[in-house]
Amino acid sequence: MEFIEKVSRCIKEAQESGSLLEREDVLSGYSGKKLYGTLQRLAKEVLTEDTCYLEVGVYQGLTLLSTALANPKASFYGIDNFAFFDPEGKNKSLVEERTAKLGLENTTLINADYEDALENLEQYIGDKKVGVYFIDGPHDYRSQLMCLLLIKPYLADNAVILIDDSNYRHVRQANRDFLKTDTDFKLLFESYTPAHPMNLKGKDKEKALQGWWDGINIIVKDAKGQLNQEFPETLRNRDLYENEHLLHASQYPEQTLFLWEIMKKFKLYPLLNILRKPKKEYSGKFKNANTYSEGLSQNGKFNSSLDS
Ligand SMILES: C[S@@+](CC[C@H](N)C(=O)[O-])C[C@H]1O[C@@H](n2cnc3c(N)ncnc32)[C@H](O)[C@@H]1O
Repeated sequence: MEFIEKVSRCIKEAQESGSLLEREDVLSGYSGKKLYGTLQRLAKEVLTEDTCYLEVGVYQGLTLLSTALANPKASFYGIDNFAFFDPEGKNKSLVEERTAKLGLENTTLINADYEDALENLEQYIGDKKVGVYFIDGPHDYRSQLMCLLLIKPYLADNAVILIDDSNYRHVRQANRDFLKTDTDFKLLFESYTPAHPMNLKGKDKEKALQGWWDGINIIVKDAKGQLNQEFPETLRNRDLYENEHLLHASQYPEQTLFLWEIMKKFKLYPLLNILRKPKKEYSGKFKNANTYSEGLSQNGKFNSSLDS
């Protein structure tokens, strides 16, 4: 239990005190303080000479660089193809500038699609194993699951995986499917907000910023079976995943979203409701970024094995 207790302590300390160190003069991005506070503590407490930190989804470097600041002796790798949230194409050079401003010499940017990078990870990390793995890249179901599956050969015996944006029901589904199919991995901690922070206001939004941003699932490698098998909440119904097959097989699949945008622009949603009443469990409250995380634990829940 020594490793699991160490990880739990890092989470508890971040829950109580937030980040370990901040450089708001240089760093900005999409992340909560409890989240990067946990990453920083894990970087200090868990990484060894033989292990490294790896993240998928660097954006402008907040999590990668603030975590790397916490342990100058360890190695930190970040994968991003800089293909999203970067209309002016400036994020890669921004990360490089910020790295230089912070005087960091322990980070490596892997400018590639996550799947290409993870399938050939030894090219980048050599003999090192991954001790802390942070997933914050593409959030479609398949990518979330692939990020979990492809890392398995590279994980250290003692490894912790943090999955950002676990507010999203389909992200929780990928985490659940991974946990269901490999019992060497256990859910250690989960915490959510009632909606994506972009859809929150006032105190609720501030709480997300000071907290875990858009929900977190933390999984540990537990080959000795010390923790109970527990899973994030999802829907049993698989309709939406079945829709995915129909979409892939339709005549103009990539135009579907475009049609949806037209419906939105011309406020045609009510028409849809008249033509076919949508099921309640699939009807979002917001125009975008519906997470279906209302009612989930907001104060953080540890695996029940640690209750006693
Ligand atoms: C939410 S941002 C990450 C936020 C970041 N961790 C921070 O600290 O602010 C998601 C990032 O994932 C990257 N991404 C999306 N799809 C990707 C893919 N297929 N391969 C690599 N990176 C990808 C995007 O370019 C974007 O920069």
